This record gives sequence, C-alpha cells and structure tokens, in this order.
Amino acid sequence: MDYTIETQDLTKQYGNLVAVNKLNIKVQHNTIHGFLGPNGAGKSTTIKILIGLLKATSGSATVLGKKVQLDDADSRLRIGYMPELPRFPKHLKGAELLDIYGRMYGMNPVELKEQISKLIELVGLKGRENDLIGKYSKGMQQRIGIAQALLTNPELVILDEPSMGLDPVGMVEVRELIKAISKDGMTVLVSSHLLFEVEQICSHVTIINRGQALVSDTLENVSHKISGPVSIQVEIVNLNQKVISSLKELPFVKEITQKNATLNINLNTREEVREKISQTITSSGGIIVSMSMKGHGLEDIFLELIKSQGAKK
Ligand SMILES: Nc1ncnc2c1ncn2[C@@H]1O[C@H](COP(=O)(O)OP(=O)(O)OP(=O)(O)O)[C@@H](O)[C@H]1O
Ligand SMILES: [Mg+2]
Repeated sequence: MDYTIETQDLTKQYGNLVAVNKLNIKVQHNTIHGFLGPNGAGKSTTIKILIGLLKATSGSATVLGKKVQLDDADSRLRIGYMPELPRFPKHLKGAELLDIYGRMYGMNPVELKEQISKLIELVGLKGRENDLIGKYSKGMQQRIGIAQALLTNPELVILDEPSMGLDPVGMVEVRELIKAISKDGMTVLVSSHLLFEVEQICSHVTIINRGQALVSDTLENVSHKISGPVSIQVEIVNLNQKVISSLKELPFVKEITQKNATLNINLNTREEVREKISQTITSSGGIIVSMSMKGHGLEDIFLELIKSQGAKK
C-alpha cells in the first residue's frame, strides 16, 4: 500500500540533541492524521523535514510518492503547510497576503483570484478580507494561515498546531474547518499537544515523545490497544460493607479501595459499566453523590504511554 507520508528511521540531531529518533510513521491517503506529543517531542522538526525545510541527519521520508529533498519546488506546490504560530506582516490585508503567496507559487492570476475568494469564504473571513492582518484576532490569523496552506489546492495539508492560542470557540472553528478540508479529498496531518482536539477530528493518530513514535494507528485501535486500568470513583452516602461486598462480586471489578466516603473501583474492562455499578450501589442501600471515570480518553492513554516510556529508561 502506498502512503501519503512514509518515514523510515527518520532522525534529526541538533548537535548532541536527538530531536527526532528513528521515527517510522505512515499516513494513509485521505485521512486526518493527528500528530501528537508534548512540548519538545519533535513534532515541528519532523514536519519541517517532511516539507523539505530541514535536512534529516539520517533515515528518509517519502511524501506523495517522492523522496523528500530540500527546497523541492514541485513538492511545495503539492503540500500545503501552516507553520506553528504563523506571524504574517501586519501591514498586509488578508486577501493581499494570499495574493502575494499565490504569485510566489506562480499561480495563474485569474485562477488565483477565484481561489482567494473561495478560500476567504471557506475560512470564514468573508467581509474581513480587506482588513489589515494587524487588526485580525489570533483566530483570524490562524484561519488566514490555513487559507494560505490551501492556496495551491494541495493533495496534502500539514498544519502545525493550528489551535495554538485559540479560545474554545476558535478551536471549534478550526476543527470544523479541518473536517471540511478533508471532505474535499485532501490528506491532513495536524500536530497538536491537545489530545481532546485530535480525538474529535482524526481517524488516525501518531503519538511521539522524545522524537520516538510511541504508537501510530487508527484512533479506535489506539484506544483499544492500551489496556491500562480504567477506574471509577464514586462518592457514596451511607457507604456500608454490603455496598463494597456486592460491588466486589461484579465480574468486571478488579479491586476496590476506600478513602472516607469515596470508593475507587479498578476495572478489568473498558466497556461502559457505570450503570451496573450504580444499580449495585443503590440496591445495597448506598446513595451516589458523584461518579467519575479515569482512563478512557486519549488524554489518559497519552499520559500512560509517556509514563511507561519514562519507566523503561
Ligand atoms: N533549531 C533548533 N536548534 C536546536 N534545537 C532545536 C531546534 N529546533 C528544535 N530544537 C529542539 O528539538 C527538540 C524538538 O523540538 P520541536 O520543536 O520539534 O518539538 P515540538 O514537538 O514541535 O514541540 P512544541 O509542542 O513545543 O512545538 C526540542 O528539544 C527543541 O528544543
Ligand atoms: Mg512544535
């Protein structure tokens, strides 16, 4: 199977610092692929290599069927890229910026004009395209950055932390925009350290830490693969021994610990069992005041993976 992006033992050293360490990732065609990792994990470095801005120390990367090389003009037209925290000249108007980029890419002026108005509409800047970028909010700046990445109708779009610095409303807008781009048939690689973000839009994820891929798979498989403990915390009024012993009889309960009025129930399943737990507590005379669960989101998986990598060292 051909992939939109495929790396083989991709490695980048800055002096003694190994920023990307034998990284192997595969991004399938027409997917939204989340590239996750904490600060300093090596996301931006990897991305810069993929688009030909940085040279790898060793290993290789193939993007859109071509071995990546530095400053490959043809590939630059086929790959849209938005750098992290894009800072565009404040004295330019939004539409002007896109026009300058389009001309740099050698686009035909008539097509460029049409493309600019289509993109301005797509990223929700209609009516503001002739305002100075210096007057744009952060969200608007990110959106003009995304429009810039889409100018040449690329087959692959790489967005480096497009949600950085945005408020929750801005984040939702960017997420919707990424989904819309993907519907048009583009492959999207989007980096983030905000896991809940990626969880909502990506079909595939790669999680990296210290330059190494910890996992790279479909979102569903990543969630299933990690069999870390799921636990439920329940605060109970009228907590008695009967509550605890009947909970212990449930087949999916592994261990129960008690702290004052709160039980921590470790499970051996990732199935949804909260209803059964709550019924058991209630029928034994307990009254549930609150219930919460740990270990189900990508956030927990991410923390587990990072912790286990640390432990191996
Ligand atoms: N130009 C550079 N020179 C030296 N070291 C660098 C350079 N760029 C990045 N690094 C280092 O390489 C490592 C990876 O950095 P990188 O920017 O790729 O991480 P990141 O995952 O994008 O992090 P963030 O989430 O903070 O953007 C870090 O330790 C960083 O300090
Ligand atoms: Mg970065």
